[in-house]
Amino acid sequence: MSEQLNTLVDNKALQVQDNPVLQGNFAPVDTENSFDVLEVIGSIPKNLQGTLLRNGPNPVAPGPNHHWFMGDAMLHAIHLSNGQAKSYRNRWVRTKALAEKTGLPAASGGSQVELMIQGSGNVNVIGHGGRVLALPEVGLPYEMDRQLETKGLFDYEGKLAGSMTAHPKVDGRTGEMLFFGYEMFAPFLRYHQASASGELQKSIDIDLPAAVMMHDFGVTETRVVFMDLPVVFDLALVEKGFFPFQWLDAHQARLGILNRASDSDTVQWIDIEPCYVFHPLNSYDDGDKIVMDVVRYKKMMTAPGDDDYEQGSSLVRWIIDPTAGTVTTTVLSDIDLEFPRVNPKVECYPHQYGYALKTGGVHGFSDLLKFDLEAGTTQTHRVGDNCAGGEPVFVTASNGEAEDAGYLLSVIYNGDTQLSELHIIDAQDFEAKPVAIVKLNARVPFGFHGNFIAG
Ligand SMILES: [Fe+2]
Repeated sequence: MSEQLNTLVDNKALQVQDNPVLQGNFAPVDTENSFDVLEVIGSIPKNLQGTLLRNGPNPVAPGPNHHWFMGDAMLHAIHLSNGQAKSYRNRWVRTKALAEKTGLPAASGGSQVELMIQGSGNVNVIGHGGRVLALPEVGLPYEMDRQLETKGLFDYEGKLAGSMTAHPKVDGRTGEMLFFGYEMFAPFLRYHQASASGELQKSIDIDLPAAVMMHDFGVTETRVVFMDLPVVFDLALVEKGFFPFQWLDAHQARLGILNRASDSDTVQWIDIEPCYVFHPLNSYDDGDKIVMDVVRYKKMMTAPGDDDYEQGSSLVRWIIDPTAGTVTTTVLSDIDLEFPRVNPKVECYPHQYGYALKTGGVHGFSDLLKFDLEAGTTQTHRVGDNCAGGEPVFVTASNGEAEDAGYLLSVIYNGDTQLSELHIIDAQDFEAKPVAIVKLNARVPFGFHGNFIAG
């Protein structure tokens, strides 16, 4: 098993039996479950009322050179209410591709728009404006219900042109949702804003020199930051059966700043040192400057045989100065990590705390991390020697309290039982044992992202 995330996502020729993203807890499951009786160790906080939704790839019949990012989407839902774990269920998103492979009927509702490239919705799942959306890297999202039935492709009643990123940002104070979509063909980038109630209000086409893999972005109270980084679309890779993006030294890395209030397509671009970032932790305004904390890799998705890069990631702080046209970089932590999250209340605003998942270890992922970025300290929540954590999702305990007043919800793989468990951790007593463990009676393959939907 690879110990670093970037070796999992580089293009390389692999047979199914040798592919690390089809082994261990990366391997897909072949069953859809609905369990209403779940064993709980400890005590589930009564103010955790809602459903943890988790997304990830669960490929049906993957072939040679299968890439982790390309598997058919499967959602997992754990419903908590009145101190009890009421249910666990998992469902594939009912795409046309899934129907062709399994015979499970494709969703017939929703948008009938056919985009040239349509992902399966396997990256993230969010609730916004009363809707639940399963989000792909490229293509339209799929609207779901809380029971994980697929309603169909969603395009804001025909108003959304092109793709929607898997990483929209919901402003922690206004509830507005800011997002973008990127494409393999011009216009390579579009920016969008939706109201808190879920109406698409603004869309702007933005020029880029090439189609790049733009997985996420930064949003502050007043501005957004696009990351034009050197992982570039290459049609020849598709013809070879590989993931269609690869590192390209010749592509200049840049950050692009756009005012949220602007209707113009004028973006201020600032060159930066070559690097790759899947995920910011959070971004915020500091006067005219922008603070953007990100999980940075020196290189990512290098060509087969190219090992000319530093393994692993680090948490860094970019201070972007639009007036000077500069970006300064400070390393906050050199622990190899991914899936950074903050309390949703501070999304787009200054944060003190950040949470993430440590990468590496026998299963590919390991412990959970809490950073106090004011004190400069790091705490580790150990998940167990033969266990592996999942993305820590912060759920606020109640309104108006400290930034870390709440719980981290993480789906943990237990290597002893080869089954998964939901661990609920008190964010203010982070290194203690979980306050509750919900045994799911099923294995949840390593996936990407999720969110807690209250109610
Ligand atoms: Fe992501």
